[in-house]
Amino acid sequence: MLEMPRMPHAITLAMTGASGAPYGLRLLERLLRAGQRVDLLISEAGRAVILQECGLALPESGPELLERLSAGFDRRAETPVPMTHLRHFALNDWNAPMASGSAGERAMVICPCSMGSLAAVAHGLSDNLIERAADVALKEGWPLILVPRESPLSVIHLDNMLTLARAGAVILPAAPGFYHLPESVAELVDFLVDRIMARLGLPVPPNPNGWTGARASGISSGETP
Ligand SMILES: Cc1cc2nc3c(=O)[nH]c(=O)nc-3n(C[C@H](O)[C@H](O)[C@H](O)COP(=O)(O)O)c2cc1C
Repeated sequence: MLEMPRMPHAITLAMTGASGAPYGLRLLERLLRAGQRVDLLISEAGRAVILQECGLALPESGPELLERLSAGFDRRAETPVPMTHLRHFALNDWNAPMASGSAGERAMVICPCSMGSLAAVAHGLSDNLIERAADVALKEGWPLILVPRESPLSVIHLDNMLTLARAGAVILPAAPGFYHLPESVAELVDFLVDRIMARLGLPVPPNPNGWTGARASGISSGETP
């Protein structure tokens, strides 16, 4: 029998310095709208990419960080994004809950995931809170999803991904499909975010222009991944 993914209690979302900040931002918005508790970690390079790709200049920490991030959420949505379930942690905050297996089960997504962070997690470096939280997820057997973006991939990148997949992580590349016939960048972004949500065991709302639409129409049945 197919085992259903467990519903996570809290989610650590780490945004690192790979291209693809709009994926991370949209995932954050969707998780909060779904009522999830999200603990956010952002690397220095992640902040640089968020500035370049989303036009958001984020401070290193403080309440202003969350306020400015929320400016990147979908403005067309009718209801505001609930922010009460969102916390941000500095990368040297070793007392943060995701730094220890004793603080309770949680899922983790690194989106986007740089090859640098991916390598560090694959080799158990635990040099900052992102790497440590991923290390904890692996040792505890909790869900860990990495969303890498790089092209082309070297043997080192591929080796590291294989190491992580063997250790129990899910490698979910930032490679949206086109079989839902997207008409906008937003639809491409949502396609990937839908897949991450589904992999976390969270509901994916029906969307005729998204991954669920492609599945429902039968475009993807059987033939597409
Ligand atoms: C605008 C920009 C785009 C980048 N895109 C990528 C990328 O797509 N993939 C990647 O692995 N690194 C990319 N990098 C390089 C990483 O940011 C760099 O290796 C950094 O050290 C990663 O650090 P982090 O893992 O702590 O975020 C990019 C850097 C910048 C500034």
